[in-house]
Amino acid sequence: MKHFISIKDIPAKDLRKILIDAKKRKNSRKYLSNLDIDKGSPLKGKLLIQMFEKSSLRTRLSFYLAIKQLGGSALTLRPDELHLSRGGESIGDTAKILSSFGNAFMFRTDSDKKLEEFKKHLSIPVINGLSPSSHPTQILSDIFTVEEIKKKPIHKLNIAWIGDCNNVLNSLIVASIKFSFKLKIGCPKKYKPDKKIMDYIKKNNNKIDIYSSPEKASFNADVLFSDKVISINDKVNKIKKLKSFKKFKIDKNLMSYAKKDCIFLHCLPRGNEVDEKVFSSKQSKVWIQALNRVHVQKSILLYCFGKLR
Ligand code: CP
Ligand code: NVA
Repeated sequence: MKHFISIKDIPAKDLRKILIDAKKRKNSRKYLSNLDIDKGSPLKGKLLIQMFEKSSLRTRLSFYLAIKQLGGSALTLRPDELHLSRGGESIGDTAKILSSFGNAFMFRTDSDKKLEEFKKHLSIPVINGLSPSSHPTQILSDIFTVEEIKKKPIHKLNIAWIGDCNNVLNSLIVASIKFSFKLKIGCPKKYKPDKKIMDYIKKNNNKIDIYSSPEKASFNADVLFSDKVISINDKVNKIKKLKSFKKFKIDKNLMSYAKKDCIFLHCLPRGNEVDEKVFSSKQSKVWIQALNRVHVQKSILLYCFGKLR
């Protein structure tokens, strides 16, 4: 049994194995419907329990389909209906019950500490479905999308991130170390990645270029990523922050600094950080990106269950 909390914790060769499995599984489903089960029903009889302390559309649906396609089932719990959120039951006792009724726990949380606490008490795998510090399932799936569309391993591509230095970027930074790809970040000076992640970059001898010019960051990019300036539960002065990011909006002009065939990716939901013309252009691959979550998360689930082929 393995947890999937941060890309940091997972050896590069296992991350690659997950992507290879996802590709095989995706290819073999070309003529199947959403709820058809993969050959061999590898997770038959298994129950995935999901819980969201923050809103979610894609993560919720993609994990539901992922476990279903592997032959298992999913149950979504509402935190406000549990004793836990009202302070009436400990994480330890909750985890004990989850472990005896379910087979894996997918958790979107507003606290990294809670995730660690669940890990300590669960005897089933826990998967991070987004936390304040990372969004690992999203980024592993995005690497799959990049390689699928570009038909090249990601280390041969120039990757750029324009926008807020948030949980999604943190996972992309960690991935750039695990998969050895070049990463340029374009963000305002006062909104750079936090110290913890900068220390991690230094410790791993990785060079990530951070620019306060979005044009410089986009220059020669094969892939341009962005995300909302204001994340869920972001406790900042929103007006001030949005103002600082004004010149980082991804429009046709900014895209023109990247390679001609550069693709645009965004985990969604979007805010005002991307112009409609770019978002709805042929270069934008956001809908394929969202759908690929299902395929990659299936292989993440199999990895957690020790059943990766
Ligand atoms: N990208 C993503 O995680 O979307 P949701 O918040 O809708 O799950
Ligand atoms: N950075 C965003 C990602 C949403 C999927 C957030 O945390 O709200």
